[in-house]
Amino acid sequence: MRVFTVLLLVLLVLVVAGPAVAGPLDMPGASQALVCSACHGFAGESRSNTMPILAGIAPWYFKKAIQDYAAGKRTSPEMEPYAKMVLQSGVDDIAAYFAAQARTASPVKLDPAAVERGRAAAVQCTLCHGVSGKGDPAKGVPDLTGQPPGYLRSQMLLFKADRRSPGDEQLKAVKALMRTIPDEQLADLAAYWSSVR
Ligand code: HEC
Ligand code: HEC
Repeated sequence: MRVFTVLLLVLLVLVVAGPAVAGPLDMPGASQALVCSACHGFAGESRSNTMPILAGIAPWYFKKAIQDYAAGKRTSPEMEPYAKMVLQSGVDDIAAYFAAQARTASPVKLDPAAVERGRAAAVQCTLCHGVSGKGDPAKGVPDLTGQPPGYLRSQMLLFKADRRSPGDEQLKAVKALMRTIPDEQLADLAAYWSSVR
């Protein structure tokens, strides 16, 4: 009976510890990704309004963003040194690590009226981002859903002012569209896409 109890206890410990032992920190890329937590949250689960969520990010888009920051196409004094570091230490492993993390939508509170106004205006985005907002890798279009509204809005303003990847031919259409949208409506669109799951 005592041996059985001990066995049962050992089993229990294994079951409880199992997921922790084979947890996210075991993946290649996990140790390099730790420094990103300071701004992007643990495992890329940003809870802030301004820092993008990296958990669940598509690897192709992650790599493009890193290359753009490292090359100074997307100007960010915060990101440039980290992007260069990621390229040196193995962008594929780090991309795979973040892609494997479960995405939980931003907890930033949204004004329901802004979400409703944004919903009506969001039809213009679905041509490229899809009705679901999840993007389209074939067209190089990223997922917008569940990102913090402050981050989405800031990127739309950067497009509008041609300050994100300035002069990029492939982004001409999205920038032209942003210029037709008043800033208040950009905030509504950000609230809407942040609310989509
Ligand atoms: C000091 C804070 C800080 C640290 C540390 C940091 N980032 Fe960032 N990151 C930012 C900011 C701010 C932005 C948004 C910049 C902008 O306006 O484009 C960003 C944006 C990004 C984006 C673009 C996301 C998107 O949706 O386009 C990626 C990818 C990214 N970071 C990856 C990383 C990785 C990987 C690391 C760790 C190696 C890291 N970051 C460390 C501040 C940081
Ligand atoms: C003509 C196609 C097109 C249309 C229409 C479009 N987008 Fe995009 N959008 C893109 C592409 C392509 C990117 C990726 C840019 C890059 O690689 O830097 C993008 C990126 C973004 C980003 C940055 C995401 C991130 O993680 O950094 C935001 C925010 C965004 N779009 C919002 C919108 C909204 C809101 C609308 C509708 C009002 C819209 N877009 C309409 C093509 C489009």
